[in-house]
Amino acid sequence: MKSIIGLMMLCATTVTLANPFPDGNAQTGQKLFEQYKCNRCHAAMLGGDGSAIFTRADRKVHNATELVEQMEACSGNIGANLTPQDKQHLGAYLNRYYNLK
Ligand code: HEC
Repeated sequence: MKSIIGLMMLCATTVTLANPFPDGNAQTGQKLFEQYKCNRCHAAMLGGDGSAIFTRADRKVHNATELVEQMEACSGNIGANLTPQDKQHLGAYLNRYYNLK
C-alpha cells in the first residue's frame, strides 16, 4: 500500500515538472522570435511590444499543442518555415508567458 502511494506521488511530481518543450532553448527561441519579427502584427494589434497578445485575458493558447498550432499559423502568414526544432525553441521562449506544463 505504501509503495502504491509513493508511486502515485512520484507520478504527480513528474507531471508537475514536465516541460512541454524539453528540446527547446528559450534564448535561441527569443532570437528566432526577433529574427522573424514575430511581434510586428501582435504589436500593431495590441500596441506596446505586442507581447500582450500572450497574456490577454481571452488568449487562445491553453496548451502546448495549441501553441505549436498557432506558431504554425502565424509563421505561415509570413512564409516562414519553422522546423520542429525552431518550434521547440520558440515554445521554450513563449512559455515564459504561458507557463504551460
Ligand atoms: C502576419 C501577422 C503575424 C505575424 C508576423 C505573427 N503573428 Fe502571431 N498572431 C497573429 C494574429 C492575428 C494572432 C491572433 C489570432 C487570433 O486571435 O485568432 C496571433 C496570435 C499568436 C499567438 C497566440 C496568442 C494567444 O492568444 O494565446 C501566438 C503564440 C503567436 N501569435 C505566435 C507567433 C510567432 C511565434 C510568430 C513568429 C514566427 C508570430 N506569431 C508572428 C498574427 C501574426
